[in-house]
Amino acid sequence: MGNIRMDDYHPKRGANQQQQSRRRQLLKVLLLLLSTNLLTFYLFSGNGGIRWVDYAPRLPPLGWDTTTLLRELNATQAKLSDSQAQLVEIHRRLTTSNSLLEVLLTEMRRLQGPTEAAGSSWADDLPAEAKLVVEAQKLPLGENPKFGSDKIYPVLGSACARYQEELLQYMTYEVGGECPVDDVLAQRLMLKGCEPLPRRRCRPKSPLGYVEPSPLPASLWATPPDTSIIWEPYSCKNYHCLENRRHTPGVYDCKDCFELSFREKSRWLDDTPGGLDYGIDAVLAARPRGTIRIGLDIGGGVGTFATRMWERNVTIVTSSLNLDGPFNNFIASRGLVPLHITVSHRLPFFDGTLDIVHSMHILSNWMPDATLEFAVYDIYRVLRPGGLFWLDHFFCLGSQLNTTYIPMLERIGFGKLRWDAGRKLDRGADKDEWYLSALLEKPMA
Ligand SMILES: *[C@@H]1O[C@H](CO)[C@@H](O)[C@H](O)[C@H]1NC(C)=O
Ligand SMILES: *[C@@H]1O[C@H](CO)[C@@H](O)[C@H](O)[C@H]1NC(C)=O
Ligand SMILES: *[C@@H]1O[C@H](CO)[C@@H](O)[C@H](O)[C@H]1NC(C)=O
Repeated sequence: MGNIRMDDYHPKRGANQQQQSRRRQLLKVLLLLLSTNLLTFYLFSGNGGIRWVDYAPRLPPLGWDTTTLLRELNATQAKLSDSQAQLVEIHRRLTTSNSLLEVLLTEMRRLQGPTEAAGSSWADDLPAEAKLVVEAQKLPLGENPKFGSDKIYPVLGSACARYQEELLQYMTYEVGGECPVDDVLAQRLMLKGCEPLPRRRCRPKSPLGYVEPSPLPASLWATPPDTSIIWEPYSCKNYHCLENRRHTPGVYDCKDCFELSFREKSRWLDDTPGGLDYGIDAVLAARPRGTIRIGLDIGGGVGTFATRMWERNVTIVTSSLNLDGPFNNFIASRGLVPLHITVSHRLPFFDGTLDIVHSMHILSNWMPDATLEFAVYDIYRVLRPGGLFWLDHFFCLGSQLNTTYIPMLERIGFGKLRWDAGRKLDRGADKDEWYLSALLEKPMA
């Protein structure tokens, strides 16, 4: 069963101990059942059982009379019907055992649960390279008291086990060679919960003719050279195409973001009191000068929020996905730090460390309520006391605002510094579509 490795991989160790002992009991019953059946076979085929040699055809010796012949035939017939009865009995017992086995196996599968059922079988059958990133590895110096273990565990999204085929495709490459260009596959796995992805021992392809990035601060508003990235994963094949995307048909995330001279240029500069657009300077003024220093922009597109904050000496990490556009590369080209995680990922910051978290458009009613609430609790977690959560243009229906989202934000425990809800009118007033912008604070105690 590969029990040890399966348990190593499985995170819910404590919760499963009962199930494990139940499984062991079931295994014992299975073994008992199998041995009983073997015994049956043995008894039936041993002394007094069927002796197959009896059925070898015997030619009557010369000189036998009809009576002898009949008697002989009669005896054979008797033995045959006797054996037939025995066979029927064996068959009956086997059928009973089979259905018992089926019941037991079903019960075992049920106890294992979906994750572990997948986890146990796949870890054993993986090719060598994938096994190395899925299974715990022994520490060369043995038990480490700080780890509380003699192994080091790979960090791997538990859902990876559910997408074995895609994961194997992802882990198929020449060790030490060039990685396949499989950004789309990788990101799709992440979005299905296989996050973090396993590490690989290959080198991603470098673009031809790469040139050094522009120095700061010129890099902040410069479009990077086309030779700075591999274009294969995207429908656009150069930055000119990305910059002109708003003039082309098609639905894209952040459709006009790559055109830095367009709307990006003016974002977060002006503050409209009572409106949905807050200005960065007004937000920073909510705290003593210089005390908002580090933070996170969730789903920050091409990094313009981080750019404006950089210009105010605030360091912002921007989380972004490369969904049909090289968003991470673009942010990095500007001289800012991109973070390639999905909105479901636990924020990779320690509790109470950040001065500010900003999020525009990405946290909205497309998210299941539970997912959203966990995400906002996580924002609360990473903010320091007095830290700011700038919820920028949260989209929802008017009916959801009072029933779902306002109560949710209130029960998480933020204090309200600014709070503005307004209709989104571009698709008509009858749509009842709303935006909420809010500046919230984590209480001091
Ligand atoms: C054949 O066996 C049956 C019983 O099985 C018996 O009644 C019958 O007399 C036997 N016939 C001969 C020829 O032995
Ligand atoms: C940012 O820091 C520099 C160097 O410390 C300082 O000269 C500048 O005034 C600061 N800018 C702002 C907007 O605070
Ligand atoms: C939500 O509640 C407020 C009062 O708390 C009310 O003024 C407003 O009309 C309500 N909005 C909707 C869309 O029901």
